[in-house]
Amino acid sequence: MTFLFNSDARRGAIFADAFARDLPDVPFTIDAATVDPDAVRYLISWTVPDNLARYGNLEILFSIGAGVDQLRLDAVPPNVMIVRMIEEGIVRMMQEYVTLAVLALHRNLPAYLAQQRDGEWRDIPQLQARSRRIGVLGLGQLGRAVLDRLKPFGFPLAGWSRSPRQIEGVTCHHGELGLEEMLAASDILICLLPLTEDTRGFLDADLFAKLPKGAALVHTGRGPQLDHEALVAALDSGQLSAAMIDVTDPEPLPASHPFWSHPKIILTPHVASVTQPATAARAVIDNIRRYHAGLDPIGLVDRSRGY
Ligand code: NDP
Ligand code: OXD
Repeated sequence: MTFLFNSDARRGAIFADAFARDLPDVPFTIDAATVDPDAVRYLISWTVPDNLARYGNLEILFSIGAGVDQLRLDAVPPNVMIVRMIEEGIVRMMQEYVTLAVLALHRNLPAYLAQQRDGEWRDIPQLQARSRRIGVLGLGQLGRAVLDRLKPFGFPLAGWSRSPRQIEGVTCHHGELGLEEMLAASDILICLLPLTEDTRGFLDADLFAKLPKGAALVHTGRGPQLDHEALVAALDSGQLSAAMIDVTDPEPLPASHPFWSHPKIILTPHVASVTQPATAARAVIDNIRRYHAGLDPIGLVDRSRGY
């Protein structure tokens, strides 16, 4: 009943300590070369290893990240459960990043950075928070958490999901019509959608045209959701005023890509949030305990939805 850890050794050592302390009945290894493949019941990984078929008794594939698109779900045998990462460290870091991005865009930081480069000392009229409307695409663990963290600032808050949701202090939308309504009222739009066939290329010219003129974008979902050319065109035309982009396609971007030097883009290298090993190990151990007790693990992926 072995647990195989297929990621970096630093985090693996922290997982190993946690398993030895809190789940000693489940042997833990980071060494795929020496493990008996038939003993492997649980595997944690960022992508699906090419040799997945050798683990014929695998029961649960844990994603080491919150997203699961990189796992190529169709490469995983149908009897294997896929479980995404739900742990407090990832949530806290996303709250920090999105708060940083929203405040930077709200307070015109990209424009002030450009002015600094040009040696220009000039104030830009400043909206108050109550007049800056925030819209979040995706009301999952991360979308809801960032909305919660933004509440004290006084921004009018809205969110959009596939199914209807109710969140105190947030205007919740769903479906096609709900999307149009939210976009028309979003001065800062935040993407926290999973990458699926429905969300690939979602942030495109049509969507940008539905935002109020001068709106800003925060993209922390997945690179292939964003049409890069459409973003540059929307920024250059003034339809969008600025963007903070954490995920791109490809990653890293080629040296000649316009995002590197665009004055209205702040670019970070897919660091908005990173799985924290101590809290992640606790979450995985709790999930194995749930599974042993006959309960579904928390974060079980619905393959038909793709997330
Ligand atoms: P969840 O699965 O908890 O939530 C996904 C949300 O998106 C749900 O509200 C869901 O709707 C909604 N959704 C999915 N598809 C659609 C659709 N077609 N139309 C409308 N709404 C849709 O995901 P998380 O919050 O945990 O994570 C979101 C994504 O953030 C991850 O998949 C990953 O790509 C990205 N991420 C990025 C990181 C970074 O560092 N940049 C770090 C961690 C994650 P419903 O509620 O109806 O199911
Ligand atoms: C994740 C990520 O999905 O880091 O966890 O992108």
